[in-house]
Amino acid sequence: MELPGGVVVWAITHHDALQRLLADPRIGKDPRLWNEFREGRLPADWPLRSFVTVPGMVTADGEDHRRLRGLVSQAFTPRRIAELQPRIERLTDELLTAVAGLQGPFDLRAHFAYPLPMQVIGELLGLDPSQQDELHVLSDTLVSSSATAERAAAANQGLFALLGSVVAAKREQPGEDLTTALIAAREADDRLTEIELVGTMLLMLIAGHETTLNLITNAVRALLAHPEQLRLVLDGEVGWAAVVEETLRYDSPVGQFPLRYAAEPIEVGGVLIRAGEAILASYAAVGRDEGHYPEADRFDLTRAQTRHLSLGHGPHFCLGAGLARLEAETALRELFGRYPGLALAEGKPAPVPLPSFIGNSVRQLYVTV
Ligand code: HEM
Repeated sequence: MELPGGVVVWAITHHDALQRLLADPRIGKDPRLWNEFREGRLPADWPLRSFVTVPGMVTADGEDHRRLRGLVSQAFTPRRIAELQPRIERLTDELLTAVAGLQGPFDLRAHFAYPLPMQVIGELLGLDPSQQDELHVLSDTLVSSSATAERAAAANQGLFALLGSVVAAKREQPGEDLTTALIAAREADDRLTEIELVGTMLLMLIAGHETTLNLITNAVRALLAHPEQLRLVLDGEVGWAAVVEETLRYDSPVGQFPLRYAAEPIEVGGVLIRAGEAILASYAAVGRDEGHYPEADRFDLTRAQTRHLSLGHGPHFCLGAGLARLEAETALRELFGRYPGLALAEGKPAPVPLPSFIGNSVRQLYVTV
């Protein structure tokens, strides 16, 4: 398939093939494995250049990947995530109280689905709440495939500058946050470079909110479009965890994730991928693979086959999976618990897809309570 900017890659759209490839040691994420990149053939103005070269665990393999992932993984153990539950519940409650004060229909994405994960990841990283909106606009530009190359590069620079200033402030005044822990790892035994430090913060910030924002939005949208399924949850016949898992499959918050590269020739479903060629994990398509999920286009909270790949698989499996599930389940349970009559707002235009081929959701979701 051709990506924005004319770059050609192999898109993997079948469940079993993707599952195999994500765990195949002959496939890596370091862009130096990619012929186009190594040979300088990647257009200088390619809008996704920053995305696929950001220094951090998503573009690292083997030992480098284990080192970078290991630095932040202690913050995401099941115990540490469970400790966040009261804080997530309080934030959810505050946001739901705030929406009650809005007059008439409101955009659930902007007023609820966005601020919850942003505030949680912002607090984990020790960011000042006043910086959140600017960081969100910049990160949106980076994950959008519709931004021009100049805008994407400027957003990347803006993010590095802003997060760099957070690092400088934390060096002066350490806190109890992930940024301070990363600074300590750098200064104590030089376990990561300065650019990897800021790159890791950038990755945590983007992965920590752009995704869960889409998951909450997509789940509410699916439930409102399938009232009989919502009824099953409100009557206690299925749990909120089932809503989260079925939404992940049915409407994957990460539509596609660029990029991986074949380090050796690999055959997939009768097709030969040559060494140095690029591979795209097409998570949204895989969730609708009829060969794997019977009646894949049906949003069905009672389906038997619930395991999906929408949080990745293999060494790069989503580090924040537990946090994302906890945030989404809390958000949905509290939202529909407080507003069981939640409905799509009438008289508003149909939701428009995000202008991104990475993030998969809608720009706005107008509802009434
Ligand atoms: C609904 C929410 C989320 C979804 C759908 C999601 C999805 C994914 C997927 C598909 C990958 C694998 C990407 C690839 O290599 O192909 C991934 C990796 C990752 N995710 Fe998530 N994610 C979510 C939430 C989060 C949260 C809340 C955090 C952090 C706070 C997070 C942090 C990460 C990190 C750090 C990686 C890279 C892991 C590595 O390269 O080793 N994610 N995520």
